[in-house]
Amino acid sequence: KVICFNGSYHGIIDEVIVRSSHKGKSLPAAPGIPSSAVENIIVLNYGEEESLNEIEELCSSGEVAAVLVEPVQSRRCDLQPKQFLKKLREITQKESVCLIFDEVITGFRIHTGGAQSFFGVKADLCTYGKIIGGGMPIGVLSGKARYMDAIDGGHWEYGDDSVPTVGVTYFAGTFVRHPLALRAAKEALTILKEVGVQGLELLNQRTQDFVDELNCYLENCQSNLRFINFGSLLKPKWIENDYMYSDLFFAMLRNEGVHQYDGFPWFINLAHSENDLELVKKTIMSVVHQLQENELMPGAPLEKDGGMPKGARLGKDLNGNPGWFLPHPEKHGQYLQIR
Ligand SMILES: Cc1ncc(COP(=O)(O)O)c(C=O)c1O
Repeated sequence: KVICFNGSYHGIIDEVIVRSSHKGKSLPAAPGIPSSAVENIIVLNYGEEESLNEIEELCSSGEVAAVLVEPVQSRRCDLQPKQFLKKLREITQKESVCLIFDEVITGFRIHTGGAQSFFGVKADLCTYGKIIGGGMPIGVLSGKARYMDAIDGGHWEYGDDSVPTVGVTYFAGTFVRHPLALRAAKEALTILKEVGVQGLELLNQRTQDFVDELNCYLENCQSNLRFINFGSLLKPKWIENDYMYSDLFFAMLRNEGVHQYDGFPWFINLAHSENDLELVKKTIMSVVHQLQENELMPGAPLEKDGGMPKGARLGKDLNGNPGWFLPHPEKHGQYLQIR
C-alpha cells in the first residue's frame, strides 16, 4: 500500500486522484477512474498526530511500501508541519518504508535544496518539475540507489566495458529525456547555482514583505481577505468560507491588468521587479477598496493610500501593530512611523 494525504496534489495519474470516504475507504476522486486503481492507496489527514499513530501501526504491519507527501501543500501553504515531517521520517526509516517527497512545487523554490533542506528532512525518493524545466515540460525523479537502481541499472559507465549491475524495470516515454527539456533544465540549474541559497532567501523575504504589507492593509480595513505564503509561493485566502463575491475580486484584478488563476497559488519569481510587485499590491488594494465602497466586501474602506503622504508604506511597529511608515530621510533602510 501507499499512504498519501488529503489536500495533496500529485498530478493526474489514476492512483493519486483519490479521496477518503467517511468510512476510511479510498475512492476515485474523478469520473472514469475504476475503484481498483485506488485500492492500494490509503488517504490520511495531513499534519495530524492521529495520522502519525495510524502510519506507525500500518507500517509495522508490513503492508506499506511508501508514504507519499507534498511537504507543504500548495493549496494550504500556511500548514508547514516540520515536526510531523520529522516524525514521519523517523517512523518510515525504522520500518524501512520508502518516504517520497513530492517537490514539484517546493523544489528549487523554497531553498536550492527544496523542502528537504528547509525542514532538515531527507526523503528516500523525491520528485521535481516546473522550475527545473526552465519552462519546458519535465518531471524528475531522484533518490537513493536502493530505489533508483531499478531505473538506471545501478552503477555503470557509458563508453567502457562496465554493464548495469542491477536488473531494471520498464521506464520509457516518447518525450522521456527529451534533449530540449534537458538543455533547458541544465540552463535553469546553472542560473539557480548563480542565484544560490541567498538569492532564494532574498526572494522569499521580498514575498514575505509583500504579504505582510498586504495583510496589514487588509486587517486595517477589516476585509475578509488575507494572503498566506510559504517562501515565494503565496495564496489569497478568505476568512469566511461562504463569501459570495470571490469570483468578482479575481475578475476585477484581471480587469485592472493583474492576471492570475482564480483561487490558485501565486508565485513571485526572480523576474518580478519592485515595480511589478508595487503595481500588483496597489491593484489589490484598489479592488478591495472598490468592493468595500460598494458593500460587496465586508469592512470599512480606508481612504486611498490611507490618506497618507506619497511614499508612505504599510508595515508593523515593534509590537506587531499595523501602521504607516515613511523612509527615514537620512538613515537608509530605516523607517519613521506616521502618527
Ligand atoms: C505538488 C505537485 N505534484 C505533482 C504535480 C504534477 O505535475 P505535472 O502536472 O507536471 O504532471 C503538480 C502539478 O501541479 C504538483 O503541484
